[in-house]
Amino acid sequence: MSHGRISRFGNQKVPAYAGWTTDQKWWPAGQIVGMASLAGRSRRNIMGTSFIMLGIESSCDETAAAVVRADGTVLANEVASQMEIHARHGGVVPEIAARAHLDSIDRVIVAALDAAGLDLDGIDGVAATGGPGLIGGVVVGTVAAKAIASARQLPYFAVNHLEGHALSPRLTDKVDFPYLLLLVSGGHTQLLAVHGPGAYERYGTTMDDAAGEAFDKSAKIMGLGYPGGPAIEQLAITGDAKAISLPRPLKGAPHCHFSFSGLKTALATRHAACVADDSQASVESQDLANLAASLQRAIADCLADRTKRAMERFAEAHGPSTLVIAGGVAANRAIFETLSTVAQGAGFAISVPPAWLCTDNAAMIAWAALERRDQPDSLDFAPRPRWPLDPQAAPPPGRGVRS
Ligand code: KG4
Ligand code: ZN
Repeated sequence: MSHGRISRFGNQKVPAYAGWTTDQKWWPAGQIVGMASLAGRSRRNIMGTSFIMLGIESSCDETAAAVVRADGTVLANEVASQMEIHARHGGVVPEIAARAHLDSIDRVIVAALDAAGLDLDGIDGVAATGGPGLIGGVVVGTVAAKAIASARQLPYFAVNHLEGHALSPRLTDKVDFPYLLLLVSGGHTQLLAVHGPGAYERYGTTMDDAAGEAFDKSAKIMGLGYPGGPAIEQLAITGDAKAISLPRPLKGAPHCHFSFSGLKTALATRHAACVADDSQASVESQDLANLAASLQRAIADCLADRTKRAMERFAEAHGPSTLVIAGGVAANRAIFETLSTVAQGAGFAISVPPAWLCTDNAAMIAWAALERRDQPDSLDFAPRPRWPLDPQAAPPPGRGVRS
């Protein structure tokens, strides 16, 4: 089977931890710094299924910590959301987010260890999101993980947040490589062929806004608050998706890229028209529901059209496989149903991680590290605000390209 061009990312330099080498595949106890506290701890085979990883996530507006065993058991999954703080501002404010991460990080890690019934002696490795994301938050999580790893002489893993989402279905569904991933979150909309940990082939990305951003910005225009996705999904239930005509940007394009900013602008125009028609300051509730339903339909159609194109490309190279949808927008029922139909038509199975694993969490970060636990990173790792999964991918046509 040809994998075509596969990009590898990550800091593959293996640190020289006392008594441990990649050949040994054993994590030593009792012969290194922190010996007293490690005394009595059993040796765990680094490639064994009893290996336990502490994961930390802090790249956006959730401070999260999780404890995951290599056999896929999630022993703890704690998330401290900053949503209420940012809702006041209608979106995530990076500086406020960084301070909130700093305030919560210790408490969240302790809560996760408590929930798992463990202390740091029971942890075999520490992973934290190393990027991409809001750099202040990424630094907070990275410093916390490095401090624990250094004090306890544990292997440290700098995890790409996007890889956390990309590998998350393997934590619950054991999906086999290679599979096609539609990653739809607040900051990213990408189609990727996933060949293995660190091995991605990007088929498409957004030329402007992400799908989640289209939900969030439209919700703001409609006065629905932040985050917009869940609010629009709820409102759409009573709306008519055919009531308001909205464009389907890039529908039928030969490539696999996305564009959503025009949709948001069209929504703003239609919303303004409703305000004028209703001749009052706010839009009547049925108009608002129709706007929500029409927007959700348009986003689902765009995602379906681009994903269909990507499935054709993937099937040409590898045959039909599984379509995985991950990221916060994957929690949307209408989008899932639309994509299920498209996947079925193309002979693909479909897999969506459970909602708690779709939105940002630390279990996916711990799991991504567990998938390559014989390759820890150096404590010299520098947090990365940008960190594409496939650095060699050709940029989409147009400006304002996201990685
Ligand atoms: O993956 P995620 O939790 O954080 C990022 O890494 O961005 O995704 C958050 C995004 C937000 O834009 C939010 O509006 C969207 O996911 N979202 C939804 C739904 N739940 C969350 N969008 C549509 N429908 C939903 N039910
Ligand atoms: Zn995310």
